[in-house]
Amino acid sequence: MQFAATIESARGIRAAQQERSVGLVPTMGYLHEGHVSLVRRCREENEITLVSIYVNPTQFGPGEDLERYPRDLGRDLAILEDEGADLVFAPGDAELYPSGFSTYVEEERLSRVMCGASRPGHFRGVCTIVAKLFNILTPHRAYFGRKDYQQLQIIRRMTRDLHIPVEVIGCPIVRESDGLARSSRNGYLTPEERQRAASINRALKLIQRRSAEGQDDTASLRETALASLREEASIEPEYLDIRDAETLETLETVDRPAVAAIAAPVGAARLIDNVQLEPPAERGGNRP
Ligand code: PAJ
Repeated sequence: MQFAATIESARGIRAAQQERSVGLVPTMGYLHEGHVSLVRRCREENEITLVSIYVNPTQFGPGEDLERYPRDLGRDLAILEDEGADLVFAPGDAELYPSGFSTYVEEERLSRVMCGASRPGHFRGVCTIVAKLFNILTPHRAYFGRKDYQQLQIIRRMTRDLHIPVEVIGCPIVRESDGLARSSRNGYLTPEERQRAASINRALKLIQRRSAEGQDDTASLRETALASLREEASIEPEYLDIRDAETLETLETVDRPAVAAIAAPVGAARLIDNVQLEPPAERGGNRP
């Protein structure tokens, strides 16, 4: 496994790989099973697997957890070595944002809702760093978790709108046994909060179940899930939305592929999760 801390050295290593198929897994490090699942998928589908580790300051707002975001490069490198990654790119801030940096990439529609509403500038930071990583490492494919569903859709839109020749691949959410989505931020939870946090996925599964049973009115699906979150865990979500799976527009009825998504503060952590919903015709059984 090779390691690059500078753009120049990453480009040199990448150039030597020539025309082989190359996949990239962008991360902020402190790797867990969710990240590892992306690396494994990338290895299955590409000859070369690149992983970036960079806690990107431009996607954190004032007062967010940039300083206390967990970091452990030594442990991350050991995991990636074991997983068979070919190159780890872990640059410092001066490398990616040298003084005088003044160009950003901003998606203007999908970024305005859900997490974008409460974290202004967050997706601008995400799009900027991902576009930079794509330009530096020129992968053929890039792997993202559906855990950050809105991020995935925004990156798909950005690559499409800017004609970036990278295939964006969305991968399944890796969960703990009680359903909580794996996240570097789960470490912020006390044992009691950790238990309550599992209600987020239970509420989403309740929506999924009701929707599969034929209830397609999103207002009542939301009400049921909100009540369960409040009663089970005293969790008041920042949002609990049911939206079009691709455009992220709000839906009154689940009449097309949709996503039910929650962001909720639990103790010192802000947790997100989502599930996919299918419209009746696509639930199987009555397809031609
Ligand atoms: P980070 O939070 O480190 O996540 C890196 C990738 O791992 C993302 O694509 C995320 O969706 C995926 N991931 C996280 N938890 C997961 C889980 N439980 N199951 C499956 N995949 C999971 O997302 C970022 O970093 C940054 O915004 C980044 C894209 C690197 C840009 O800075």
